[in-house]
Amino acid sequence: MIINSNKIDWGPEIEQQFIRQASWTRAYRNQIYRQIGLIKAKNLLEVGCGTGIITKELREKTSAKITAIDFDESMIDIAKDKVSDVRFLTENVEELSFKDKSFDFVLCHYFLLWVSNPEKAINEIVRVCKRGATFVALAEPDYGAWIEYPEMGLGKYHIKYLQEEGADPFIGRKILSLFESAGLETELSVIAQTWNQNHLQENIVEEWKRVLEAELITKKEFNEIIKKESILIKKNQRMIFIPVFTAVGKKK
Ligand SMILES: C[S@@+](CC[C@H](N)C(=O)[O-])C[C@H]1O[C@@H](n2cnc3c(N)ncnc32)[C@H](O)[C@@H]1O
Repeated sequence: MIINSNKIDWGPEIEQQFIRQASWTRAYRNQIYRQIGLIKAKNLLEVGCGTGIITKELREKTSAKITAIDFDESMIDIAKDKVSDVRFLTENVEELSFKDKSFDFVLCHYFLLWVSNPEKAINEIVRVCKRGATFVALAEPDYGAWIEYPEMGLGKYHIKYLQEEGADPFIGRKILSLFESAGLETELSVIAQTWNQNHLQENIVEEWKRVLEAELITKKEFNEIIKKESILIKKNQRMIFIPVFTAVGKKK
């Protein structure tokens, strides 16, 4: 098994970032789990499990045999400490070690945008799916459709930052086509809500921090932006929206 050496250097705060991202989609995930009948799963694979936040949830929601993979061993180590009764493996999704038709459910969350070859990854996932199996790509954003008011460039910086990190900020618009091309009968849905007003300050600071860490702005610019943001948020005049897509595919 070749593990892609081109891994992203996530840094020590990544667990907090994953927790924040997972909190944005929690209610929606529960709806999707009900829609796909997750409770009936017998043999489930999670791809790109990261630090195991979604894996833990899956373990609590189904009695299925669960396998979770990520190509970053340090992520797998954190996940292993968090969840028991799951088989964790360090693998590249583009080259899975499993036999054809091994799983009846495959899930991922905030994942395909980070994969260097999503087409290859999806074909590989379909290979390990049984006929009639469900593959769900939960929460694939599209930063190209980001809108914010007032315009402060946060969306544009994120597109740049993600592209520099090797991610595809426009994956959201592509997943329907990618799924169907791989032979999945697909239903696409979208979370269309503005950023939660109660957590706007905290989220905006964290998101600008990512722009700062990517050296797209200076510390001085960061401090000025945060000051402006805080005033707008206090007056309830800051709005951010980004569509986050979910594809549910059935192997024909
Ligand atoms: C944004 S994180 C999401 C983690 C987790 N799904 C969550 O929502 O908390 C993306 C994960 O994909 C993993 N990853 C990226 N490319 C991969 C590949 N080709 N094969 C396996 N894992 C990969 C990264 O190591 C990282 O842990």
